[in-house]
Amino acid sequence: MLVFKTKIDLQNHLLNNKSNKTSVGMVPTMGALHKGHISLVQKCVSENNITVVSIFVNPTQFDNSEDLKKYPSTLEEDISLLKQVSDKIIVFSPTASDIYDGNIISKTYNFKGLDKVMEGAFRDNHFNGVGTIVETLLTLVMPDNAYFGEKDYQQLAIIKNLIKTQNIPINIIGCPIVREANGLAMSSRNERLSATLRKEASFIYQTLMTAKKKFGTESALKIIEWVKSEFKNRNDLTLEYVQIANAETLQPVLRKQKNKKYRIFIAVYANDVRLIDNIPLN
Ligand code: PAJ
Repeated sequence: MLVFKTKIDLQNHLLNNKSNKTSVGMVPTMGALHKGHISLVQKCVSENNITVVSIFVNPTQFDNSEDLKKYPSTLEEDISLLKQVSDKIIVFSPTASDIYDGNIISKTYNFKGLDKVMEGAFRDNHFNGVGTIVETLLTLVMPDNAYFGEKDYQQLAIIKNLIKTQNIPINIIGCPIVREANGLAMSSRNERLSATLRKEASFIYQTLMTAKKKFGTESALKIIEWVKSEFKNRNDLTLEYVQIANAETLQPVLRKQKNKKYRIFIAVYANDVRLIDNIPLN
């Protein structure tokens, strides 16, 4: 298992090992790997000759310094999980000053409104930070394929937009959400939940599934109000936002149109742990 800590070492290795015939896949992560991440890595390994997994907790995408401080760091465990998939995986785990060349700030992008709603509305500058690090990592490795989870559906849409507008020739591949047995979307943050709260948090997915059932017959507005009222009855889970949005533009929808795809998006605090989820409605 190769683990590179600097851009230059990774680039030198790739220069010597890439050829026209090898396809390279990349899975960018912030580590604390779980089965959700591993599903992306497995797909990447099965579809490419070389797989690069980056593990880097990107400071510029955190608007809350406490959240950044509490973000789990488990590099040794991560490496042993990756080894179980394939010992040929290349791990890239740089320091912030190496990857940012000593200048740890984000660029400013125009994501055409995709970044103004939901996560972007509640997490200041978050997507400029995500865009900056993803663009840096992808242009460093220049994979043929890069894998991202629908767990962060808005992030996936923004990365697709970034690749298109910057003309970067990489396929962005979206992968389905992996869930715990009770439906809770897997997340590195779930580790911070007590056993009880981890069970209780399955309420989030259950509520989304009921919203999906209602979507056939009820208006988006009515469903949103219903979800809000469901969370008002909970002491342990606090709703931050719920939105039904056009799956392409991510803009909120109040009146459904035929032939359009819609998803429901949610962010909930379980104590101080912020959880997000989304599912397709049609
Ligand atoms: P991180 O939260 O570590 O997630 C890395 C990738 O794993 C993302 O594409 C995310 O959507 C995917 N993922 C996480 N949980 C998942 C689940 N339960 N099922 C399927 N996929 C899941 O997202 C980031 O890191 C960062 O923003 C990053 C893109 C690495 C930039 O710093």
